Amino acid sequence: MNRRALLFGMAATPGLAAMGFGRPARGAMTASLSTAATEKGRYFGTAVRIDQIEANPRLRQAVLNDCGFLTPEIHMKWNALQPARDQWTPGPADGLVRFAQANNLRVRGHALLWHKSTPQWAEAEIARERDWSTVGRYIEAVAGRYRDHVEEWDVVNEPIDADGSTDGLRDNVFMRSYGSSYIARALEAARAAAPKARLAINDYSFEYDNSTEQVRRTAFLKLLEKLKAAGTPLDSVGLQAHLDLSKGPLKPGILKPFLAEIAGMGLDIAITELDVNEHDRRLSLRERDARVADEVRRYLDIVLDEPKVKGVTTWGLSDEHSWLQAAGARGAALNRGLPYDAVLEPKPMHRAIHASLLA
Ligand code: G3I
Repeated sequence: MNRRALLFGMAATPGLAAMGFGRPARGAMTASLSTAATEKGRYFGTAVRIDQIEANPRLRQAVLNDCGFLTPEIHMKWNALQPARDQWTPGPADGLVRFAQANNLRVRGHALLWHKSTPQWAEAEIARERDWSTVGRYIEAVAGRYRDHVEEWDVVNEPIDADGSTDGLRDNVFMRSYGSSYIARALEAARAAAPKARLAINDYSFEYDNSTEQVRRTAFLKLLEKLKAAGTPLDSVGLQAHLDLSKGPLKPGILKPFLAEIAGMGLDIAITELDVNEHDRRLSLRERDARVADEVRRYLDIVLDEPKVKGVTTWGLSDEHSWLQAAGARGAALNRGLPYDAVLEPKPMHRAIHASLLA
């Protein structure tokens, strides 16, 4: 390898370079999304896993280049932290917090209560005993452990269900055992354990003009209104923003009033899990990337018009790590819904986010 190649970390083997290994770290040349966000008084962040950051220097570089905020994609979920009643496994979550601290990054905690990440032992205990102690102890332990590190918590994740029989609230183990008061109780427990943390409710499918999402928007606003009216400690709302190219056009006339209602309640808004599910993967990569970028630009241009939107987080940086991938998908079969491709080359979506943040 010659000196120039060494300096730029380039591999001598063309095959490896073609696979994306050993090329110059793009981060140094890619405009920083965090810098763009900060210029406008906002933040940009992403969901990450510490094992992926440690295994992939290019991902690490992209995270450091683009992000001011990190969300642990799985490490702070209940089943990750306490897989059995007497087994605590905070190693990866602690590792991510240490990485964030070492690099001056802020942390969004995700998520204290989520029906999909409640370990089986806890579900059984909650259903059997129906007193608050199982949940209360958990929130106290976890929000307390990270009280000086997690700036904002998704306290309740995905409580809305368009088919939910009670006011559009999801029929989960918490509803069945405690009724709808579980949401306020969780927020109060989080406030007590981590008084400085900002507390949020995080949910999905509010973006498009269809009857299911209309029901979801209405139910969500109703929930927020009730919580605010009761003086519940709620500071912020997380809108996941899993965009979907099969759902028709995004409409400002739908989104803007929704955001305005949330803002009118005095709540901050965070875009927490932005990505795009593609619709037609038979098109050229160029066309596919353009469609994804256009959707993101349209969405962000609408939501960033609302001053209460404080920041944007994507659900991962690289297509390689996206939850939207079908098992074993490779190459053109990969969904291309994140800012970087599978080998950490920035795509038009990256430029779209940058432009929207600065607009
Ligand atoms: O690490 C184990 C591995 O050891 C095991 O062999 C393998 C077998 O299935 O599972 C691996 O764990 C998986 C984990 O991701 C890491 O890859 C879990 O099964 C899988 O359920 C988990 O999925 C995560 C999911 O939440 C559930 O926690 C996704 O990565 C994550 O992107 C997704 O994130 C959610 C948000 O929290 C809430 N909003 C929707 C979003 C997407 O579903």
